[in-house]
Amino acid sequence: CGIVGYIGNRDTQSVLIDGLKKLEYRGYDSAGIAVFTSDGLKIEKSLGRLVNLESKLEDAPLVGTAGIGHTRWATHGKPSDVNSHPHTDHTQKFSVVHNGIVENYLELKEELISQGYEFVSETDTEVIAHLVAREYDGDIVKAVQKAISFMRGAFAIGVLTEYEPDKLVAVRQASPLIIGIGEGENFIGSDIPALLKYTRNVYILNDGEMAVLTKDSVELMTIEGNFISREMIRVDWDAVTAEKGGFAHFMLKEIHEQPRAYRDTMLGRIDESGRKVVIPGLNLTDEKIRSINNIHIVACGTAYNAGLVGGTAIEQLVRIPVMNDVASEYRYRSPLITPDTLVIVVSQSGETADTLAALREAHANGAHVLAITNVVGSSIARDADDVIATLAGPEIAVASTKAYTSQLIAFYLLGLYMAQVRGTQSEDEVARIIAAMQSLPEQVESMLSHSDAVKAYAEHIANHEHLFFIGRGLDYSVVQEGSLKLKEISYIHSEAYAAGELKHGTLALIEEGIPVIALATQESVLEKTVSNIKEVKARGGEVMAITHEEHVPGLLKSVDKALAIPKTLSLLTPALSVVPLQLLAYYAALARGNDVDKPRNLAKSVTVE
Ligand code: G6P
Repeated sequence: CGIVGYIGNRDTQSVLIDGLKKLEYRGYDSAGIAVFTSDGLKIEKSLGRLVNLESKLEDAPLVGTAGIGHTRWATHGKPSDVNSHPHTDHTQKFSVVHNGIVENYLELKEELISQGYEFVSETDTEVIAHLVAREYDGDIVKAVQKAISFMRGAFAIGVLTEYEPDKLVAVRQASPLIIGIGEGENFIGSDIPALLKYTRNVYILNDGEMAVLTKDSVELMTIEGNFISREMIRVDWDAVTAEKGGFAHFMLKEIHEQPRAYRDTMLGRIDESGRKVVIPGLNLTDEKIRSINNIHIVACGTAYNAGLVGGTAIEQLVRIPVMNDVASEYRYRSPLITPDTLVIVVSQSGETADTLAALREAHANGAHVLAITNVVGSSIARDADDVIATLAGPEIAVASTKAYTSQLIAFYLLGLYMAQVRGTQSEDEVARIIAAMQSLPEQVESMLSHSDAVKAYAEHIANHEHLFFIGRGLDYSVVQEGSLKLKEISYIHSEAYAAGELKHGTLALIEEGIPVIALATQESVLEKTVSNIKEVKARGGEVMAITHEEHVPGLLKSVDKALAIPKTLSLLTPALSVVPLQLLAYYAALARGNDVDKPRNLAKSVTVE
């Protein structure tokens, strides 16, 4: 989601709409604004794209001196008029826009309902409006501080109240928020581009900080109320770079958003003890989980590749046979589906026609269908019996990165959850895996801050027309994604091979100097992979190995180059090992001068079969 806010003497509605236009890439399920008018706080909102809101406002503009706006990307509650922001309380004196997730909103909602507060939407945001109203005692800043002291999660909010029309309050708790400084006017926004038309002077809030804006002043403080001072930043990016958060391409930005996407996808799905996975709202009952005797994972493209990792993870954790298939094949080959089959469809967009058709085929045969998708209001999410949302945020680059890795996280959570129900893993083992999952975001961060070696290697392979990826087990699944990524955006021909299979035919293609990227992280088959690497070396292949630090010295005896990735459980390694492969594709495409975000012939979402 994206939020924007304004206080000053300009036409508030236009400032908000301009900001929302820039934020629309963050979600376009619905949009809305709240403005102080001479008749008090007035809200207008509309389902769908921003133009729908604009045309409503054309007929009845909201004229006033302060306002907040929101463009929504549905997470809690489907896209609808009533779930659109801004939200208000029962007195309609308070208005809130919100980006992020209030993790404990169900608890808070129940409490508020028991106290007589009435809810009109399914959102977590409405909880904030009621909380602020409940805590209000003549001081909006204190009321907001009190309200957020009850809230857990990652969010940014903007709040207005009719009681204090000269103030706009903004809070950042682990979701981005920028304060824009003008003359006789001030702004808030989810990102800099939303404000660039009006100001280049900004404060960037840190987590746990808030701002109180009037038209002539901005006060910054911690959420506990301690005043802070911050240096004002003068932004000199052009508007296009700004939209990408300072990154050269959306793809690179999205690669860097992965730690955040991992955290968000895990948020609220691990209980407080850190020993158990919880999946709120799941229709798949324990009884049903116990009766499943086979699982089909069906998807296209990168989502299919995520399903390969997911399938192995579920088989290992739950010991139920899993079959992976691409959606366009699955639906036409009369798959053997029974009511005891669980069909998992995976789709970033939730709109892929082949995947949707596979879902319908599964339903027609009586299977329970669970969707792992990044778009909550999508066709696939609506038709499935269950949805596990990946909270990667909107993905703009055609080549998927953060959606893929968030799908892996969703699969791990699902696998652990099913293992708990079926008792196939001990409580301690589940806790051990959860603990390792919780370290993944930091481990990705550390890899992203050391990407020079990958970049240099990418520039080297950019001069080649063919290359190979090899790996065993989960490494094989990951190299399939690495190879797809490279093909999609660098247009270098590559093939991903199960390392042990190369000698059964494809080894004929290995000649002097051909690059071979060997992913060697899976401990149980490491020695076997090393043997395969030697087969390649003996034919003149030039091997780059990606492995854990501890294996680098050993492997360097057999390979030309080695790259270390942080250590985690073998099961979870794909969530780390894919990152250098994404960067490799990115930098190789860049070196070749390609349009990284919009590769030739491809579309982000393919709604034709
Ligand atoms: C298109 C995209 C791919 C994507 C595939 C599946 O072909 O170009 O990047 O992996 O569709 O998309 P979905 O939205 O279903 O994950």
